[in-house]
Amino acid sequence: MASFARSVRLVMGAWLFLLLVTAGSEPCRAQQVNPTASSVTEQQLLQESARIQGRVSIPDQRSSVLMQPAGRDWREFRNVTLRWIGGIAILGMIALIVIFYLIRGMVRLEGGRAGRTIVRFSAFERFVHWMTATCFIVLAISGLNVTFGRPLLLPLIGFENFSEWSLWAKYAHNFLSFPFTIGVVLIFLMWIAGNIPNRVDVDWIRRGGGIVGHDHPPAYRFNAGQKAIYWTVVIGGGLVAATGYQLMFPFYLSGIEGMQLAQIVHSVVAMLFMAVMLAHIYIGTIGMEGAFEAMGSGTVDVNWAREHHNLWLEEENARARRPRPAVTAAE
Ligand code: HEM
Repeated sequence: MASFARSVRLVMGAWLFLLLVTAGSEPCRAQQVNPTASSVTEQQLLQESARIQGRVSIPDQRSSVLMQPAGRDWREFRNVTLRWIGGIAILGMIALIVIFYLIRGMVRLEGGRAGRTIVRFSAFERFVHWMTATCFIVLAISGLNVTFGRPLLLPLIGFENFSEWSLWAKYAHNFLSFPFTIGVVLIFLMWIAGNIPNRVDVDWIRRGGGIVGHDHPPAYRFNAGQKAIYWTVVIGGGLVAATGYQLMFPFYLSGIEGMQLAQIVHSVVAMLFMAVMLAHIYIGTIGMEGAFEAMGSGTVDVNWAREHHNLWLEEENARARRPRPAVTAAE
């Protein structure tokens, strides 16, 4: 028994010794090059280790990182590449919309108005839509201020105004993230049933959705274009929310590399998201006659429903014709 206890102590001791040696190996490697030697170049230092790190006695050990060379690539992305991606996506989409509008013009109701309407969205659906859309627009403007504010806005309005505006924009970005996230979750639950891709969508896409030409391909409640918008909101919204909270509560879930990745995903997805939403806003306003009413008053003209969502109209008519179950008095 005594020899067993001795063996256990020996093994534990050896294990602890190994642990101490491996835990201390990181700073040792970093010290292989004498950083103060006059012959050492910065490049040599950077190649020596993924980060240059010392020791600190304060609780926040992150402050011991002196240099993290990957941060230079991230900064290059943040200050140069991201601005190109955002600029091309957003201005490119605006240019495409203008060209498309000049060529095609508004998609008109070809059969005119029937003068009878049908309910398309309930008050609750419209409330969720407008709450999410309002948050999205404020999040987009305040986010763009983080990316482009310094080079574009600061020279125009000066330091004091810029810092005042940026402070409020940052508050708005942080606080509106919560109703935005709730909105994305509700949109996901509310409209998932009508947004599962099916065979009708293939035909709709093949026929240009009736937007490119003057065709009226069949569609249920949501056509393939609307389904694309729905999934952009659900997936894009999910990604910006997940990465956004990681940025808002830094270093809870990951180290510096994870933070950099979160910023890259957040900003790139946000830029593409904004570009897609511009197309959505266009088609819901000046791009198509009668479309705005669906989210405005919640009803659409029956001819609009017939031209753009004929299978949905048939379903709704069949539902209206179905005899209601007789109400019997409670016994
Ligand atoms: C739950 C939702 C969201 C959360 C929690 C969130 C959070 C954040 C945080 C913490 C930052 C860093 C700000 C800073 O550096 O001071 C940020 C940046 C940014 N956000 Fe959001 N955000 C959300 C949604 C959105 C949406 C919907 C958009 C666009 C429509 C957006 C666009 C941006 C942009 C463009 C940046 C700047 C990226 C950069 O240049 O570094 N965000 N966000």
